[in-house]
Amino acid sequence: MGQARIKEKLADYKQVIETNLEKLFAENSIPRELKQAMQYSLAAGGKRLRPVLCLVWGQAFGLKREDILDFATSLELIHTYSLVHDDLPAMDNDDYRRGKPANHIRFGESTAILAGDALLTEAFRLMLTTRLQPERVRQATAEVAASTGPRGMVGGQVIDMSLSEDPETGLDSLKQMHGMKTAELIKVSCLSGAILAGAKDEDLDNVRTFGTSIGLAFQVADDILDVEGDNASLGKPVGSDQEAGKTTYPSLIGLEESKKTANQLVDKALERINPYQGEHADFLRDLSNYIVQRLE
Ligand code: IPE
Ligand code: IPE
Ligand code: MG
Ligand code: MG
Ligand code: MG
Repeated sequence: MGQARIKEKLADYKQVIETNLEKLFAENSIPRELKQAMQYSLAAGGKRLRPVLCLVWGQAFGLKREDILDFATSLELIHTYSLVHDDLPAMDNDDYRRGKPANHIRFGESTAILAGDALLTEAFRLMLTTRLQPERVRQATAEVAASTGPRGMVGGQVIDMSLSEDPETGLDSLKQMHGMKTAELIKVSCLSGAILAGAKDEDLDNVRTFGTSIGLAFQVADDILDVEGDNASLGKPVGSDQEAGKTTYPSLIGLEESKKTANQLVDKALERINPYQGEHADFLRDLSNYIVQRLE
């Protein structure tokens, strides 16, 4: 499948997810400023990769898209909260996100912090209202909490902050940090879809390794794009890592080796889709390749 075809399919999914995001704000019980700040970062766009992965894996194991749409949408809320906080002056101090001024630039720091908090808690409300087998919902939600909290994304962000000041950082600590701050959420996006669909343990094992591998490839690609990308297509400032003195794949092993690493990780992910056939498995193959094609 060519890049144009993938983009078309992604655009279909994006539309479904974005329509669902809008529904969250239909009622008026959220204070106006907070609602505006939450909606602002959600509506600013983004690839919607995490909810798409949840939807596609869920469907690959037999669920209908509508049945997991709310659960998948909640992953975008968590991801967006992480970006709002990631850009804050106390963290990466970036002024620009998803092609617009960052949340704290538009609404001020206190509202941006609270909008992030609200996106996170709203996500768990949404996950827990999923009307599928309660034991599956419980298990999938627990996995999301584990992957995005202190042992996952938040822990990884803390390590990221300390690594950037440590000139002794090696590849092992960088991998660990990438695994936690980025790959855990991407992995659990895949895994939760499969759990909700009642996939067997051996399938869950494939899904986990697939998700971790594309998650790691995704962050290596993000580090490369911070060097080689352009502001307009990324919608965020290029060169931000270097300016902040961050340790990244390109800063440690160079651009060419970083690209090789990203390709190897995608190959590892692709091996785990080999056992599966059909339109959803094909789309997952295309999505995996898309992560590295973005670098060409
Ligand atoms: C950016 O994620 C943050 C990382 C984990 C690298 P995305 O590149 O998926 O950002 P959006 O959602 O498309 O804006
Ligand atoms: C993002 O890492 C990780 C999370 C937000 C959890 P980056 O700091 O590299 O993401 P960008 O480049 O700002 O999107
Ligand atoms: Mg960061
Ligand atoms: Mg950042
Ligand atoms: Mg980055």
